[in-house]
Amino acid sequence: MAARVAELSRLLTHAAHAYYVLDAPVMEDPVYDRLYRELLELEQAYPELIRPDSPTQRVGGSPAEGFRSVEHRIGLLSLDNAFSTEELEAWYARLLKVLDRTPAAGEPLPALPMVGELKIDGNALALSYRDGLLERAATRGDGERGEEITANVRTIQSVPLRLQLGHPPAWVEVRGEALIPDGTFAAINAERQGRGEPAFANPRNACAGTLRQLDPQVVADRRLDFFAYTLHLPDDWQPGPDDPPRPASQWESLAWLRAAGFKVNPNAELLDDLAAVEAFFARWEPDRRQLPYATDGVVVKLDDLRLQADAGFTQKAPRWAIALKYAAEEAPSRLLRLSCQVGRTGVVTPVAEFEPVPLAGTSVSRATLHNADRLAELNLHAGDTIVVRKAGEIIPEVVRVLPELRPAGALPLQLPPTCPECGSELVREAGEAATRCVNSSCPAILRGALRHWVSKGALDVDGAGSKLIEQLVDRGLVRSIADLYRLDAALLASLERMGEKSAANLVAALAASKGQPWHRQLYGLGIHHVGEVNAKALARAFPGAAELAAAAAEAPERITAVFGIGDEIAQSLQQWFATAANQGLLRQLEREGFSLAAGAAERAAGQGAGGAGDSGDAAPLAGRTFVLTGTLPSLSRRQAQDLIEAAGGKVTASVSKKTSYVVAGAEAGSKLTKAESLGVPVLDEEGLLALLEQGKPASA
Ligand code: IVH
Repeated sequence: MAARVAELSRLLTHAAHAYYVLDAPVMEDPVYDRLYRELLELEQAYPELIRPDSPTQRVGGSPAEGFRSVEHRIGLLSLDNAFSTEELEAWYARLLKVLDRTPAAGEPLPALPMVGELKIDGNALALSYRDGLLERAATRGDGERGEEITANVRTIQSVPLRLQLGHPPAWVEVRGEALIPDGTFAAINAERQGRGEPAFANPRNACAGTLRQLDPQVVADRRLDFFAYTLHLPDDWQPGPDDPPRPASQWESLAWLRAAGFKVNPNAELLDDLAAVEAFFARWEPDRRQLPYATDGVVVKLDDLRLQADAGFTQKAPRWAIALKYAAEEAPSRLLRLSCQVGRTGVVTPVAEFEPVPLAGTSVSRATLHNADRLAELNLHAGDTIVVRKAGEIIPEVVRVLPELRPAGALPLQLPPTCPECGSELVREAGEAATRCVNSSCPAILRGALRHWVSKGALDVDGAGSKLIEQLVDRGLVRSIADLYRLDAALLASLERMGEKSAANLVAALAASKGQPWHRQLYGLGIHHVGEVNAKALARAFPGAAELAAAAAEAPERITAVFGIGDEIAQSLQQWFATAANQGLLRQLEREGFSLAAGAAERAAGQGAGGAGDSGDAAPLAGRTFVLTGTLPSLSRRQAQDLIEAAGGKVTASVSKKTSYVVAGAEAGSKLTKAESLGVPVLDEEGLLALLEQGKPASA
């Protein structure tokens, strides 16, 4: 048995390495899945055979309470930056000087081989291996001490749990960059926004936030990647006969790391002289935009490790390396004012307004400061010079303040104590990052609530744009969502930019919106954490607002029993339904003709699909089985599976005649071929989403 476990572990590790590190799969998905299940079953039966580097042991343990601070065996240094070729040349001249190789006047500069690597804009990690096994992973921290995040890093498939060496050294320290690829980043943000959670500002922040997640399962779902670039070995290590030789250069270190099983960025190059470095830097300036992850420069490292040792370090950084940064994604500007935005949930977001600067192709003059904590961390003062960043399509942000340029006597900036819209006192609850206006009739909250109610995913009312909503609120014509339904065409026609025709159309659109399905009404209420996906799941389990309110008050366990719905959401529902103003709103909506419940057709359709059972179990995809294969353009496998299961469908590993659909993405393997040979219908992501949409009771 032990031999079979070892064999399976070896086969699966080899296949995962080929897939995640080499990007060259050697095993078909069904084979992998079958062997994986066999290993899992054997390990369940004989727990004593579980090895720490078993491929089943990537996501393990329960959520952590917090992270331990640990000391790095070898400190993590930072890099000095150069922002121009002049600065690069100055660095090289200094390097030659410390190496005692400055040429005589008139002589050319001696050429030293260097390695050019891309500077990945992620988060540095320090990995410690003991006798070949991953023992510890830590964040950079202050370079001396970092946080121990081993359980999270184990979930990164491109981090080997065991080094592929015959004679592993007693210890190895590997450094590299963890990152979230752009595509995954976009999907994570889409999902967060769907749940009403704030989006991450950029992939690096998303990665940093993920690495500090307490639950390794969440980290696993976020699919981080890792590129190794630095190797430290004990002085006395001797390679075994099949091991890579002890590296004498950075170039050989990269080869060693690759041989030991790490993913090394394939774009590194050995460069003969400074001219080659400059060409490498220039070439990647445009080309890096094609890469599926963020880079912010190139790192140039003296290749020869002995020369590196001779050159040594300054206080913070090695003299033998330099980061050559690409410009224009960060730029300084001067702060003009701090303004505040009040969102529909009352959350107050500080916004920096500054002198316009060109960044990544557009002119930028505003950037979110996220929340009071971020504001305090930046220590922003009136008139400060700030550094603003914008990467590609991503939201501009204030990276830091340059305190040395601060005008004398400048006052620190804080969030105001009262709401800029309604003047009521702002509240910040203990343990919450958000500062809120809790006045439910605050015009900013009302405008936000109305905009949300009429939006596409909610009641989808055509012709109710932001400008119109602003007028309605400012003139006191609308004080709640229900008031919208009391507007008459004559009044609407008298407003700016409205005519008789558009007024009549709007009245008709509002009337029609009363027939929108229950899950859209629920989503439209804008309850914290109840995004589109959750609203659908809840609407299927609870046929109307009355049932949902009763469960929220008396039997929250019935709410958390819904797939994908946790305590936080149940609590938020409980609070929402317990608030008098919200109860009033529901009554008013009912008076205006809203059912706030599933219609007869919706219930019937739900039950039809779900077969027997009460309507709480009814699910449009009940009884249908799905197989997922390949990489979908925006959904992760887990997300696709969640959506299918939330709709009552089942996801299985292998294709048979009984499979209802195969959902295939890029590089779909044998499952797709099998589906085609058995005549099982094949969907792409769009097809899946359409099916979920059309399977929903409303349109049935
Ligand atoms: S070498 C002493 N190589 O950039 C060597 N760093 O600004 C220091 N980084 O903390 C690191 N890509 O997080 C190195 N190819 C690369 C890198 C890289 C990204 C990051 C790393 C470091 C930061 C310094």
